[in-house]
Amino acid sequence: MPIYHKLGNIPQKRHVQFRKPDGSLYQEQVIGTEGFSGISSILYHINPPTRVKAIKGITELKREVWEEKTLRHFHFKTLDAKPEGDPISGRKVLMFNNDVSMGICNPKEQMEYFYKNGEGDEIIFVHEGKGRMESQYGALDFHDGDYIVIPRGVIHRFLLKSEKTRFLVIESPSPVETPRRYRNTYGQLLEHAPFCERDFRLPETLITKDEKGEFLVKIKKSNCIHNYIYDFHPLDVVGWDGYFYPWIFNINDFMPITGKIHQPPPVHQTFQGDGFVICSFCPRPFDFHPEAVPAPYNHSNVDSDEVLFYASSEFMSRKGIEYGSITHHPDGLPHGPHPGRAEASIGAKETNELAVMMDSFRPMHVAKAVLGCEDADYFRSWLDNSGAGFIPPTS
Ligand SMILES: [Fe+2]
Repeated sequence: MPIYHKLGNIPQKRHVQFRKPDGSLYQEQVIGTEGFSGISSILYHINPPTRVKAIKGITELKREVWEEKTLRHFHFKTLDAKPEGDPISGRKVLMFNNDVSMGICNPKEQMEYFYKNGEGDEIIFVHEGKGRMESQYGALDFHDGDYIVIPRGVIHRFLLKSEKTRFLVIESPSPVETPRRYRNTYGQLLEHAPFCERDFRLPETLITKDEKGEFLVKIKKSNCIHNYIYDFHPLDVVGWDGYFYPWIFNINDFMPITGKIHQPPPVHQTFQGDGFVICSFCPRPFDFHPEAVPAPYNHSNVDSDEVLFYASSEFMSRKGIEYGSITHHPDGLPHGPHPGRAEASIGAKETNELAVMMDSFRPMHVAKAVLGCEDADYFRSWLDNSGAGFIPPTS
């Protein structure tokens, strides 16, 4: 996160004596990326962060590939997925490759522990719900439409504050960043970027607990959960500064780039990682050429898989798509407006669509977790009156 930020009390210089009221030293910790060459922060703990009381077992996470050999367009309906587990244990990975994974989480329980992803950055898109994420860097309140960006290594927990919560969970072994083309050499977002630093919400309230006891921190590594027991409250930071910390960007703060004719998906890009991009499709005016066709043209990105999550019930180019739907168009299979939709879009002045797209540059494996929520006839939905899978357009 290329904005310098600090919270709490820190000494004037790095790596100098910084003492508690009782005269003992605070415990300094540098947390950073790329072997002291990437972004980093310095945290000052009450307790040594190295103290581990016990490690109580390993749980392997299930991520079974659905051995579906037929190449086709996929459509998964996630709205009816039963609430289960907590914001970590309730996660279901729906598709993945070595660069990125995407899943859903409809938690019904609070977390009774802390969590650290030791192998990937996470983007949690809050489809519905509100709550607070507490981490060693402070508290972040979240609500509908937030992308919560959590770099790996951040010890945190979610406190749910709504009856219903729906998360879309994206995980990446490579760092998640804003698109590089929108940043200058100093890291500042440029004038043509569809968002700016003012749109980012940073941790503002530090949480400092000086408590002894038994505290469980579940650490994800090698697709397993490792149960670490600490003898101190892990949120024991009295101050920190740097560039490495969790932050939030709300999809409604994305300022869409529009054009005289249809603009391609890169104008919607919001994040990048190695081997994938994430785009935000937001309400916006349509193209203003007098003969413009606002609906997208048929297209094939032959080296990409396209995954779209529909966060609003209205989406202009597809029939049969529901609120909470996920479509997956693998390996450049041609796709585009459903029959009649291109013609119907002519003359439309605006769209109220809201969707999150993830394009991966290497093929995604579909997980068995999709079984039960697939619309198996979706691949035939571009036929007129296409039968069982046909559902009238939503707009
Ligand atoms: Fe597409």
